[in-house]
Amino acid sequence: MGTKGIEIVGMDVNHLIGLLNKAFSDEWLAHYQYWIGAKIVKGPMKEAVIAELTQHAADELRHAGLLAARIIQLGGTPITKPEEWYKHSNCGYDAPDNPFVKDVLEQNIKGEQCAIMTYQSLVNLTMGKDPVTYNIVLQILQDEVEHEDDLQAEMEDLETMLSLRSRS
Ligand SMILES: [Fe+2]
Ligand SMILES: [Fe+2]
Repeated sequence: MGTKGIEIVGMDVNHLIGLLNKAFSDEWLAHYQYWIGAKIVKGPMKEAVIAELTQHAADELRHAGLLAARIIQLGGTPITKPEEWYKHSNCGYDAPDNPFVKDVLEQNIKGEQCAIMTYQSLVNLTMGKDPVTYNIVLQILQDEVEHEDDLQAEMEDLETMLSLRSRS
């Protein structure tokens, strides 16, 4: 850990590490939710949805890596036990037990909306106080906004297709 790098953080570093560990837990749960969703999803437009879910799974894992690196830089330890993810997570985990494409999309849209709220609050909290963490959480927020948009676009295509089908 870099002493000067920590000294310039204008907020309670331990509190910040705790919040980053909560977001870190969210990212792992989101990664798995997408990863397993991509394996089991069923229904129309499955191929396009699988491609999107697989891409998002990779993004969430990358986010977990960014957060882990920052937690370590701040002198903290990223959560080492998966069972703790549930305890610390803001957004929880929605098991895709109903693998129909529309239900999986709905669950993941809900997850992204929660992630957007989480990062929005981290952006606000670190703004002007910790530019390094701010830069990381802002990048992640941009990705989560894009994720929500991607999933809602898939949902729109799916709904158009289903309504055309029911008319014919
Ligand atoms: Fe993420
Ligand atoms: Fe996301």
